[in-house]
Amino acid sequence: QLSESYGEPQGTGGETHQVAGGGVATLTTQQGIPVADDQNSLKQGARGPILMEDFHYREKIFHFDHERIPERVVHARGYGAHGFFELTESLADVTRADVFQRVGERVPAFVRFSTVAGSKGSFDLARDVRGFAVKLYTNEGNWDLVGNNIPVFFIQDPIKFPDMVHAAKPEPDRAFPQAQTAHDNFWDFISLTPESMHMVMWIMSDRTIPRSYRFMEGFGVHTFRLLDAEGNSTFVKFHWKPQLRLQSVVWNEAVKINGADPDFHRRDLWDAIEGGDFPAWDLGVQLFNQEFADQFDFDVLDPTKIIPEEILPVRTIGRLVLDRVVDNFFAETEQVAFCTQNVPPGIDFSNDPLLQGRNFSYLDTQLKRLGSPNFTHLPINAPRCPMAHFQQDGHMAMRNPKGRVNYEPNSWGPQMGGPREDPLRGFRSFAETNPEPKQRLRPESFADHYSQARQFFISQTPIEQKHIGDALVFELSKVERPDIRIRMLSHLLNIDADLAQTVADGLGAALPQPAQAAMPTRDDLDPS
Ligand code: HEM
Repeated sequence: QLSESYGEPQGTGGETHQVAGGGVATLTTQQGIPVADDQNSLKQGARGPILMEDFHYREKIFHFDHERIPERVVHARGYGAHGFFELTESLADVTRADVFQRVGERVPAFVRFSTVAGSKGSFDLARDVRGFAVKLYTNEGNWDLVGNNIPVFFIQDPIKFPDMVHAAKPEPDRAFPQAQTAHDNFWDFISLTPESMHMVMWIMSDRTIPRSYRFMEGFGVHTFRLLDAEGNSTFVKFHWKPQLRLQSVVWNEAVKINGADPDFHRRDLWDAIEGGDFPAWDLGVQLFNQEFADQFDFDVLDPTKIIPEEILPVRTIGRLVLDRVVDNFFAETEQVAFCTQNVPPGIDFSNDPLLQGRNFSYLDTQLKRLGSPNFTHLPINAPRCPMAHFQQDGHMAMRNPKGRVNYEPNSWGPQMGGPREDPLRGFRSFAETNPEPKQRLRPESFADHYSQARQFFISQTPIEQKHIGDALVFELSKVERPDIRIRMLSHLLNIDADLAQTVADGLGAALPQPAQAAMPTRDDLDPS
């Protein structure tokens, strides 16, 4: 019930005062002081200067001035929703992870989809990889599967990630957004990084202009491990398959949609969930052991490679359903913090160098982005299982240890002494042995950069192959320096001769020699 004066001009200056009462709450400051007038600052005389004494004005402006936090350094533009994960097939024979034990059991989930290169205010239908980050609030802590909609990545070593992102983001002098047009820096870096060729085939395909988030696949990309109670390991690759199947738009549609509705994807997700049309994905796994891995020429630790589904079919073991939009975009979608190192007991990392590198990066960047080591106290990041530790203090601490004890071991006894280690339920790493010396060297097993790029290209239908050719011509035609275009053509020759010819024709360029062997080995390097 609104008061009679709701919306009526009341003040002497004709301003609108909407007053409390009749069930409408009283406006207060952050300190809870009831506010009488939210339209006029306190002045010395009606036409006089504003007084320092006006704590309500100062608090309101102070808070507004501090509303922004840094956007994510990558994946800045995203959209999230809540839901659940339900297990449909038990993996109890290969993992002790609680989330994979009991068929039919559900755990809450939060998912954030994103583009990678664009800023927070960019448009949804840029040609770009899409992030597919999933947080499952399991009984043994949060499990974050921070994936993409493409099963491979640009680089093999995380030390190249800052270079890759710098090359993909706006060029530092002109700061033109690069998401919608090609540009020299990106293709310069790519053409000098042959390991990216498999990923390039995927990003030039229709996968990078999805119809909506609801029609995208998701991939964990890296090889992970599952561990049973005895510590035995099974390798695993994770896949999300959309129950609506895959759909993309074509480039002309993408360009028009971006102009007409830059929020097309987020609106689609919001409308679908609000309309009760809940999007769902199957969770699939590819499980294998070391002997299986050893039969390939490529390395299962190399994130630029897939394990072909014809050789190892994806086994469906669960489903993810998104059935609730957020209450508040900032509190949930912006403040959510995913991290590859959040894994429960029974799931473990492999030695994929990129995965190892990511494990450092996320926590580090989130301290900067969210401003406090206590960001796990935010409801969206907090585990939903029992939790007890001795970490304390820092900005905005809301969960300090209770009582006198904040250390262990201690001798305060079971009632007062606080939490203890749990050798049975606790997280244990796979006991891997590695007798090799410390060195900066990439293994020979990471050296073939073209075979899977070719496999992907020839697996496409003729119209899909045409789209890849069109996309390459479009993108490379925007590159000003001819030598960069030529370098790209020399790689394409190693992938598919017809594709290289199509792109060369489209660019009006002559075909060069194929690129030399992909990666210099130590023997190729000049010892001087
Ligand atoms: C976000 C680093 C590779 C998927 C981020 C963020 C950083 C980062 C710093 C911002 C996180 C935040 O502010 O909360 C890296 C590094 C990589 C790497 C150093 C390689 C060395 C990958 C790969 C994938 C991926 C291979 C996919 C498998 C994502 C996703 C997000 C993200 C989905 C957005 C998470 C969200 O929605 O909040 N990454 N990344 N990244 N990354 Fe990576």
